[in-house]
Amino acid sequence: MEIRKVAVIGAGLMGHGIAQVAAQVAGYEVHLKDIKQEFLDKGMDRIKWSLGKLVEKEKLTQKDADAVMERIHPTLDMKTAVGEADIVIEAAPEKLQLKQTLFEAFDEFAPDHAVLTSNTSSISITEIAKTTKQPDKVAGMYFFNPPQLMKLVEIVRGEKTSDVTVEVITIVSQKMRRETVLCHRDRLGFIVNHILVPALLDAIRLVGEGVASLEDIDKAIRLGLN
Ligand SMILES: NC(=O)c1ccc[n+]([C@@H]2O[C@H](COP(=O)([O-])OP(=O)(O)OC[C@H]3O[C@@H](n4cnc5c(N)ncnc54)[C@H](O)[C@@H]3O)[C@@H](O)[C@H]2O)c1
Repeated sequence: MEIRKVAVIGAGLMGHGIAQVAAQVAGYEVHLKDIKQEFLDKGMDRIKWSLGKLVEKEKLTQKDADAVMERIHPTLDMKTAVGEADIVIEAAPEKLQLKQTLFEAFDEFAPDHAVLTSNTSSISITEIAKTTKQPDKVAGMYFFNPPQLMKLVEIVRGEKTSDVTVEVITIVSQKMRRETVLCHRDRLGFIVNHILVPALLDAIRLVGEGVASLEDIDKAIRLGLN
């Protein structure tokens, strides 16, 4: 399946960055959806600013930056956003019910072949997928902040995610010049956060127990673990 059109749902911190990478690095046509014009405007302004920085640093020409902006189509309408999408990347707030409602809408408006992904940090992909008729097409596509700079995408399988869905997300990630890792089960924290969060809690405990100062913990991790 050739991927040409991407829908990004939510133009916030993650969504605007993902939309930029999809349009700039992979050259996809991107529909970017939010719920208010002001949120879309803010997302588009952030993308323009970020592209401007690349032009300033001579990593991108102004002509290419303009072409990227033209490939991103902001919209408030779900049907326009996902109606022709080959892949949907949801980056709306971290609330299960909201995500389930959104996935129900993707199911209704996106083409049958479309792969439906969520950038969720902590919600079960299996639970999100339950509201769709094709849970095999649903998976986690977890970008890191800021998506423009961070090279990793964690692909997260729900209980019913198919191999083809994982393959499509892998191809799309590669086109965005991202590295992927596959999390075989949608357990809390997936891979990176599953390792990171307990370590952060331990650091807080060490401070609380008076074992080391905040500054020394920072220094120890920076110089000891690079
Ligand atoms: N912030 C991070 O560092 C980070 C990192 C990785 C993943 N995530 C995940 O990415 C997702 C988005 O996080 P964020 O930090 O970008 O949040 P954010 O609040 O910055 O952006 C969310 C955007 O979604 C919009 N939105 C709300 N309801 C919507 C709807 N029904 N349809 C379309 N858009 C809607 C909001 O108006 C907002 O612009 C969350 O699931 C979060 O867990 C966040």
